[in-house]
Amino acid sequence: MDAHSPALSTPFSALIRTASSEAHTEVQHTSFMDDMLGGRLGVAAYRRYTEQLWFVYRALEGSTEALAQDPVTGPFLRPELTRMPELERDLAHLGGAGWRDGIRPLPATEAYAARIAECAREWPAGYVAHHYTRYLGDLSGGQIVRGTAEKAWGFARKGDGVRFYVFEGIGNPAAFKREYRALLDALPVDDLEKQRVVEECRRAYALNVAVLSELSAEFGGDGRSPLSA
Ligand code: HEM
Repeated sequence: MDAHSPALSTPFSALIRTASSEAHTEVQHTSFMDDMLGGRLGVAAYRRYTEQLWFVYRALEGSTEALAQDPVTGPFLRPELTRMPELERDLAHLGGAGWRDGIRPLPATEAYAARIAECAREWPAGYVAHHYTRYLGDLSGGQIVRGTAEKAWGFARKGDGVRFYVFEGIGNPAAFKREYRALLDALPVDDLEKQRVVEECRRAYALNVAVLSELSAEFGGDGRSPLSA
């Protein structure tokens, strides 16, 4: 083993963060995100986006019983992260009592959810990559999306419509993220497997970009942000 290898000397939480920071910048500046945060989208786009999240979180949270027993994934499955009940309340608010009838995954959403489900079934460490990419993001940039949505579409602060972004069971998000990073640092897999997890994290970002691009194609015309709002 090479004691000077960055993979060995850098805590895994720092490694995955650094290795995915370019992908993070990309997803953050997709035209859908830019348009949403710039106040250029209507509530219909936000609703469609939230529907796509429902399919993603159904895949993330749909098979957690086996994952809870697994030594690699088990420590990450904290009940206070669970988002499905919140998503369903938001969707009932956005789409009315019959919201389930009208929701359809975009092709990119189907591919994303299928990849999460595949990892959940076959590759616990790969599932961790998806878990990290979504939940740590929701606890971070998700809060910016919430503030924008409340202002743009008049949702009550932390109320129906934006409950997905509200983690009632997490009083101190900064402390929670520190603990989460400690779990990443203690991930019981070897360095090669950690590299694969980093790759899967990049893939998770790419899958998010694909969903956001399809949403832009639906709501943003040519998919590019307008030069001026
Ligand atoms: C425009 C939308 C977004 C904004 C403004 C944003 C902003 C941020 C900010 C400020 C942080 C740092 C928080 C901290 O250090 O505590 C962060 C972290 C993170 N974001 Fe985003 N983000 C956005 C979208 C996304 C999306 C769509 C994803 C995933 C698909 C994502 C995944 C993450 C992850 C995984 C982290 C944690 C990185 C780490 O510390 O290991 N973000 N985001």
